[in-house]
Amino acid sequence: MAEVLPDAATLEIKLNTKPQTVRVSEPHLSQNGKQVIRSYRGWPAVQVLDLLLGAHWRAPGVEVEFRALDGYVSRIPSERFLKFEAFLTYEHVGHRRFVVDNLEQNERDVALGPYYLVWNNIRHPELLPEGGTYWPYQVKQILSSTAFKTALLPPGLPASLSGSAAIAQKYCLSCHKVNGFGGDKWPGNLALQARQFQADDFVRWVISPGAVKPGTTMPGLPISLPQVERERLAQLLHGYLTQVPVSPESAVK
Ligand code: HEC
Repeated sequence: MAEVLPDAATLEIKLNTKPQTVRVSEPHLSQNGKQVIRSYRGWPAVQVLDLLLGAHWRAPGVEVEFRALDGYVSRIPSERFLKFEAFLTYEHVGHRRFVVDNLEQNERDVALGPYYLVWNNIRHPELLPEGGTYWPYQVKQILSSTAFKTALLPPGLPASLSGSAAIAQKYCLSCHKVNGFGGDKWPGNLALQARQFQADDFVRWVISPGAVKPGTTMPGLPISLPQVERERLAQLLHGYLTQVPVSPESAVK
């Protein structure tokens, strides 16, 4: 069940805990090894998850999904919250506006509210190299799920393809869905949509959508990966998406 996050005043009453201040190295502002420290106000994520999802989110193999206003979905393995300290924040301490510049994506004044998940990367400096991965902003809903397994590894999937399911999740399913599992940026079942493409056309599209359809908003596989690696991933994705059994209830293209 998806839980809509209440506003901060309501959350404070439900948690019966005052919000805390956490100092972090802000990954969206820290570039070229230069750290920008910011203080945010909020609650330890585990407290919010316990309150809204109950204790079962803590089980191994469960993922916590953070859903943003624009349909963007960020999935974070539950183990990570038990290992590292995260806060669900609603305020940039000392500032009226709750915004950040996203230097990497060249965006100014990106709204962070209603909630922004931040990690205590000062206490856990091993998180610093990860940058903004797992720092979803504009979060309005959370849920815990084992849907990954049900949707992406259904019975009948050749075992050799199960590794490619994780590749699809990592690169594609923040926007697309497979068997009902994934983001809301593009409708339909990607497993069926992929079947409309010849392998070559699919690879070309996934590596460089803009070259196939100028002006498209779909990003290609990260340009930071070597070309051969992008081709390899695209082939694996094609193999997986065209062979994963399609569940009857999501057999809508
Ligand atoms: C940031 C969101 C986003 C991500 C990530 C993304 N896509 Fe897309 N995708 C889109 C959008 C938007 C469209 C529609 C593009 C258009 O028609 O201009 C699309 C279209 C497609 C289509 C054609 C769909 C159809 O209706 O026929 C395929 C196939 C596809 N994407 C595959 C992928 C694969 C494979 C990945 C992962 C490597 C991926 N996409 C990652 C947003 C995304």
